[in-house]
Amino acid sequence: MSFSAVDIIRAKRDGQVLSDEQIDWVIDAYTHGVVADEQMSALAMAIFFQGMTSAETARWTQAMISSGERLSLDVSRPTVDKHSTGGVGDKITLPLAPLVAACGAAVPQLSGRGLGHTGGTLDKLESIPGWRAALSTSEIQAQLSSVGAVVCAATEGLAPADRKLYALRDVTGTVEAIPLIASSIMSKKIAEGADALVLDVKVGSGAFMKSLDDARALAQALVAIGVEHGKKISALLTDMSVPLGRAVGNAVEVTESVEVLRGGGPSDVVELTVALAAEMLSLAGISADPAAVLASGEAYESWARMIRAQGGDPEAPLPIGKHKHVVEAPIAGVLSTLDAYAVGVAAWRLGAGRARKEDPVQAGAGILCLAKPGDRVEVGQPLLELFTDTPDAFAGALAALDGGYTIGDAAPEQSPLVIDTIRG
Ligand code: URA
Repeated sequence: MSFSAVDIIRAKRDGQVLSDEQIDWVIDAYTHGVVADEQMSALAMAIFFQGMTSAETARWTQAMISSGERLSLDVSRPTVDKHSTGGVGDKITLPLAPLVAACGAAVPQLSGRGLGHTGGTLDKLESIPGWRAALSTSEIQAQLSSVGAVVCAATEGLAPADRKLYALRDVTGTVEAIPLIASSIMSKKIAEGADALVLDVKVGSGAFMKSLDDARALAQALVAIGVEHGKKISALLTDMSVPLGRAVGNAVEVTESVEVLRGGGPSDVVELTVALAAEMLSLAGISADPAAVLASGEAYESWARMIRAQGGDPEAPLPIGKHKHVVEAPIAGVLSTLDAYAVGVAAWRLGAGRARKEDPVQAGAGILCLAKPGDRVEVGQPLLELFTDTPDAFAGALAALDGGYTIGDAAPEQSPLVIDTIRG
């Protein structure tokens, strides 16, 4: 059946509910270039203002899944995946995937690159000499069977409608619409084919969702789509007002993840890794104690196998920016705030992130947060170390950090890292 794009745009603009047939047609026609970018932009903006019902969102997701292939994973272990909505210093996939594999599940983690102030898992892993992000479906399958964990780029054929629509939303101010974000994430995750999925929905200055109400609404929309598609699914709402851990960037985050895999590392990274692993294992029906497996070194062994399987050398020294600038405490006191967004933008400007999809990133660029909120600091004590290969970048990074931290008299109130869990 054929429709008119203009009629569909008008219908949504005027607050009507789109029919299944209209949604199927418009996604298919857009994927094949029959609906033009400017028409899809108008429809995305109409959806931004008018929203979509949960039935429309479910159908929109299904149509995007149907635009491409679905991986059918043939592995003997239960398959379970994690998706984070993105944050600053969010390196959790790196310790989490091998940890959950070491506990007995198979983790197919198809990841993306960073855009804007939030880092990308593939950019971080590519700082490991030799490591390769692009795997074929048969390589993914083989590595899942042999190692139990694979972190790689999404294959080209997975939800192509989303790839096209996401790029369009990025340049038309229509990213932040809950039905569009939820359908975008879930179309890829459902097409990827894992039995179960745990979502890490971030809330705070460094996240897409700045308010708890918006983050909760997104989590509920994501879980509802998963349930509709027969997935075992949960969402953790987690704090992203402060960077996770101490390292923000590419190679620096790999180094910190390896510390965690060796049984050390910052307590917040360990806490979130273990909380997400416990939820993933529970959905996969595996009873194991992820904290004990992490402490035992088995997760590190699983990491080393995963990196080697993709051509990387887990023991190779990692790059660090050739130039360093230290930000010192201007007064003595207690570090009261360290704003995730400010640190994320600073790391991005140092070269850890990219402004356009085709830009390269610097493996050695990033920031080490030497003090975290609640720490006592003295005048002149180093607070942040900034690294880059391009020293001209320091000025922009320091401008981003201006006002990004405060020092007061008393320790700030500690908010919980895991705020809530929504189960399907
Ligand atoms: N991540 C996605 O994959 N899609 C969105 O729309 C937002 C974040």
